[in-house]
Amino acid sequence: MKESLLCTLRDRSTCTADFRRTSDELARQLCAETLERLRDDSTDALMLVPVLRAGLALLPAFASAVPDAPVAFIGITRDEETAQPDLYYTRFPEAMPSRALIIDPMLATAGTACLVAEMLMREGYAADAIYFVGVLASQEGMERLAGVIPHSNISAVAVDPELDARKFIVPGIGDYGDRYFGT
Ligand code: PRP
Repeated sequence: MKESLLCTLRDRSTCTADFRRTSDELARQLCAETLERLRDDSTDALMLVPVLRAGLALLPAFASAVPDAPVAFIGITRDEETAQPDLYYTRFPEAMPSRALIIDPMLATAGTACLVAEMLMREGYAADAIYFVGVLASQEGMERLAGVIPHSNISAVAVDPELDARKFIVPGIGDYGDRYFGT
C-alpha cells in the first residue's frame, strides 16, 4: 500500500492536489508504523522535530497521533550549489521530552538530518534517543546518518540507490517541499 502511494509521488505527472492527498495518506500510514516501533523501544515521551519546509507535510499526521507532543521547529535549506545544509530557524519548546523524532520526507546526503541530530545532542539528547522518519532515503544518506544515530532508529518508505550530480535522490521524487506546497 505504501509502495503504491510512493509510486504516485514519484510520478512527475502527479499534480499538486494529488501529490498532497497521497502524501497525507502516506504520512498517516508511516506515522502509525513509526509510533508502534517507537513504543516497542520505550514508553518515554516524544518531541516532534519537523524540518522546514518539507517536514511540515508530514507533521499533521504525527501531531494528531501524539497530540501532547511538543514540537521543535528547525529551518534548514540546502544550498543549491554546494548541497550543504544552511540553518535559518530554530525554535525549541521549553520542555523537551527525552526522545526526539526528526521528521523530514527526504534523506539525500543526510547533511540536513545529521545537523539536526547534532543540534539535538547539543541540547542533551543521547544518540539512541534520536529517531528519524522519512519517505525516501538514498543509500548514502542512510549510511551517513547511521554514523550519528543508531541504524535501527532510522526509517523510510524506500531507499534509492544513488544521488545525482546535484545531490538529488535517483530515481527520487523531486523536491518534496516544492511539490507538496505547489511552489
Ligand atoms: C530537502 C529535504 C531535506 C533535505 C535533504 O530540503 O526536505 O530537508 O533537502 O537533503 P540532504 O539529506 O542532502 O541534506 P530543501 O533544502 O529542499 O528545503 P525545503 O524543505 O525548504 O524545500
